[in-house]
Amino acid sequence: LNTLVVAIDGPSGSGKSSVSMETARRLDAQFLDTGAMYRAATWLCLEQGIDLTSTDASTKQLIIDTVTAGQLELSTDPDVERVVMNGTDITEAIRSERVSQNVSAVAGIHEVRQFLIAQQRAIITNAGRIVAEGRDITTVVARDAEARILLTASEEVRLARRGLQLNTTATESAEGELASSYSEEDLKKIVTERDKKDSATTSFTEAADGVDTVDSTELDFGQTVEAVLNSVAHQVAAKN
Ligand code: C5P
Repeated sequence: LNTLVVAIDGPSGSGKSSVSMETARRLDAQFLDTGAMYRAATWLCLEQGIDLTSTDASTKQLIIDTVTAGQLELSTDPDVERVVMNGTDITEAIRSERVSQNVSAVAGIHEVRQFLIAQQRAIITNAGRIVAEGRDITTVVARDAEARILLTASEEVRLARRGLQLNTTATESAEGELASSYSEEDLKKIVTERDKKDSATTSFTEAADGVDTVDSTELDFGQTVEAVLNSVAHQVAAKN
């Protein structure tokens, strides 16, 4: 197959990014982390000192103007993680808790989504073979993808995975804003509240028509990748 688009959605902590990245390597395809684009947009707004908690119409317009003026460069090589905004490498900075806590507000603005979705569709078209992951890839961005998957896991498992990730990046964070460990309560807040806010804009908790669900609750990383590859193979075969 010369062209192959694999769309993967799921909530935070489902292991979406690392599973999608490995799936891309295995399929000899490129990789698109759409969450990184919303994070980069959020980083830019914070950098410009915009108050993202404000619901003013003027603030909203400022966010739209700022995001649409941003020059974003994104690596689609699954082996190279690199996000550059207006010439600044923000690969690490977009993973900060400050960005995570503000991203839903930016992602909730329709004009921001339209702008980023157009960029995502262009990247997907140009790539030919690509695994794209996010919250609305199976339903909006690449509805016509050859394979569409909703990657889920129980809330308990998602909290544990996210906790591991947070506590690892916390010690490495240059932002110095993260504590070295999170209580279970903090984690639950961080993870479930963002998913709740995101649910107002995108629907990623239930599989849409024709979308295959891969539940990774009982699977380790390697098994999850295998399950995703299996689903891709089945969906591609069914379409040919
Ligand atoms: O996947 P990740 O956690 O990095 O996504 C960061 C945020 O970007 C999400 O919490 C959500 O607000 C937004 N997002 C989105 N649509 C996507 C991908 C991410 O709204 N397709």
